[in-house]
Amino acid sequence: MFIGRKIAFIGPGAMAEAMIYGLIHRKVAEPESLLAAGPRQERLDQLKDRYGIEGYTENTVATRQADVVVLSVKPQRLDRVLAGLKGAIQPSAFVLSIVAGASIEKISVGLDHDMIVRSMPNTPAQIGEGITVWTTSPAVTEEQIEMTRQILGALGEEVFVEEENYLDMATAVSGTGPAYVFLFMEAMVDAGVHLGFPRRIAEQLVAQTVRGSVDYYQRRSDPKHLARLRNEVTSPGGTSAAALYYLEKAGFRTAISRAIWAAYERSQELGKGGKSHPPDQTNNKA
Ligand SMILES: NC(=O)c1ccc[n+]([C@@H]2O[C@H](COP(=O)([O-])OP(=O)(O)OC[C@H]3O[C@@H](n4cnc5c(N)ncnc54)[C@H](OP(=O)(O)O)[C@@H]3O)[C@@H](O)[C@H]2O)c1
Repeated sequence: MFIGRKIAFIGPGAMAEAMIYGLIHRKVAEPESLLAAGPRQERLDQLKDRYGIEGYTENTVATRQADVVVLSVKPQRLDRVLAGLKGAIQPSAFVLSIVAGASIEKISVGLDHDMIVRSMPNTPAQIGEGITVWTTSPAVTEEQIEMTRQILGALGEEVFVEEENYLDMATAVSGTGPAYVFLFMEAMVDAGVHLGFPRRIAEQLVAQTVRGSVDYYQRRSDPKHLARLRNEVTSPGGTSAAALYYLEKAGFRTAISRAIWAAYERSQELGKGGKSHPPDQTNNKA
């Protein structure tokens, strides 16, 4: 697919490395077709030692050679990086951004370039188990869409959506999702310790319960609604019924719903360059 095509990673951090690793190990791209650019030579040397890819401390040296420019810098560095890259991207190349909250319009105007893919990965991407939601500007070609599928596939699953607003929704559900899951797991582990389990055993019980439940849900030959799976473990007058009563009484379901709505609103605000403010001044209208 990428024979003779070059992919430049601007921002050679954790996510760029996950993509480089995935592309090489899934044999989507050869090391010779991958380039990295960032401010620290030691980091570029590290990527060269690990994967055999070329690195440059000057971003434009990489982008001038590239058919795909992956923007993988932190959001707070983006403005400066876009300004530096303006006019240094080949007219036929496309830009694939994984920068959280950066709109297609912002990138397109910042670079004066109209072929832009915006994506929202999540943390498990770093072990190839992520899920990335993505969309494109109208100018992106069919071939570039296929290339995007392959590049993002290196991070796990990928889902194309037609509308950019879905990126803010995905930020709230899957992008931020690992934070909810980790908080839930942490609370379960602490409760296990409270009961008297050594922490190590509590962590093992919780991690395998979560992993096993997801696999059980996804691998069933007769897919069932989540509520039916929950009902299966809820005997009349039993332990699950007693526990679920407390979760419902505490507003567990509503808390999750409001939290995800708050993350969605915050994502929209940040996309518009919104200022930070104390949490109790936001989202209290829901
Ligand atoms: N991590 C995740 O799971 C995740 C999930 C969803 C979205 N994202 C998005 O992915 C992007 C990258 O995240 P990350 O976790 O990979 O961050 P990271 O590890 O901090 O990587 C950012 C890289 O950019 C480099 N950099 C800094 N200034 C630069 C410049 N002017 N030009 C080129 N490179 C520059 C940094 O170099 P130095 O280290 O030398 O400063 C670093 O190598 C972020 O925009 C984030 O929103 C990440």
